Amino acid sequence: MEPGKGETKITDDQLLVAQSTIIHRIISIIGPFALKCAVDLRIPDHIHAYGGEPMPLPALALSIPVPLEKQPMLRRLMRLLSAQGVFAVQALGDSGVNDDGDGSIGYLLTPFSRLLVTADDGSPNMSSYVRAFLEPDMVKPMYRMSEWLTQEGANMNAFEMAHGGRNLWKVAQERPHMGRLFNEAMACKTRQTTAAAVACCPQVFRGIGSLVDVGGGTGMTAKMIAEAFPEVKCTVLELPHVVAAAPKSELIDAVAGDMFEYIPPAGAVLLKNVLHDWSDEDCVKILKQCKKAISANGGEHGKVIIVDIVINTLGDDPRKNEMGLLSDVIMMTGLGGKERDEVEWRKIFSKAGFANYKITPLKGGPHSIIELFP
Ligand SMILES: C[S@@+](CC[C@H](N)C(=O)[O-])C[C@H]1O[C@@H](n2cnc3c(N)ncnc32)[C@H](O)[C@@H]1O
Repeated sequence: MEPGKGETKITDDQLLVAQSTIIHRIISIIGPFALKCAVDLRIPDHIHAYGGEPMPLPALALSIPVPLEKQPMLRRLMRLLSAQGVFAVQALGDSGVNDDGDGSIGYLLTPFSRLLVTADDGSPNMSSYVRAFLEPDMVKPMYRMSEWLTQEGANMNAFEMAHGGRNLWKVAQERPHMGRLFNEAMACKTRQTTAAAVACCPQVFRGIGSLVDVGGGTGMTAKMIAEAFPEVKCTVLELPHVVAAAPKSELIDAVAGDMFEYIPPAGAVLLKNVLHDWSDEDCVKILKQCKKAISANGGEHGKVIIVDIVINTLGDDPRKNEMGLLSDVIMMTGLGGKERDEVEWRKIFSKAGFANYKITPLKGGPHSIIELFP
């Protein structure tokens, strides 16, 4: 093809690189599905149960179990996942790391797969995240993105288009399996972020007296805050079906309701990974309810604590930046929400009647903590 006006001629070498980049990017979709297969087969659990020794392929195949004729295929799956850092391989004899499937190598967990081991106490782990986000119901809207983008009207997101007009929360309510996976995925993801928030910014939570975690899922974040700051009385406000399915805890109260209608009064309202689910107009409505809740608390003015991505605090780290941008497209197609930069945040804060805010980026991930004052 001849270059267009203003385009420079592309060399054959550049075309070769471009072609392999396209192919690499497209077949990379296999990585997440291979990971899901390993999670579905509980391979991290089997290796963990082997007691810290490298687990040979035949032993792994036996414990899954995988029939003898499929063992060569299991070896190939493990070879890919090991090359991607999900598992580590170690030679069992003197022949070096020779992955010929005869049991001469063993598999070990890496920090990556350690996070996929099911905890003894049954608490959620990142395997729920892998499974929840690769559920066919979650992937479906991706096939409708171009159709959705070219259709007139902004009243429906791609998820709703793919699910007969029902939004994610409705589908999660109707399909308990998906709802449970989603809530577990959120609970697990929140552990690291909440631990980072508590460690980096204890002053954000000290002295607030009471806190309502709005859209707080099954209560993981509220429990962690109640444990770290026993003087703070923590409550979760959630949709009724989420409250009904959440484990009961003496540390926190749970209130079933709708954040667009009412938020119980408290010294602070927490919105963690909630506002990015919603349009600017909806965020303003939620924040106005938050303002009422913190103002009604004995007449004192408290604060709103937001944990979400702030696009322009992601710095030069390409991984953080890409996570922010990928998450933005997920919010756009999945919920009609968005990841925001500081200017976009400031606009909704001021429309909801908040005068001041302070942003503190959290270590190790793309999130920031935003304190919002009336
Ligand atoms: C992305 S999840 C975040 C969960 C939790 N805050 C976290 O960080 O793990 C958003 C939550 O908002 C809840 N939610 C959605 N609509 C709501 C509403 N109208 N009122 C209260 N909660 C709502 C959902 O059930 C879901 O648990």
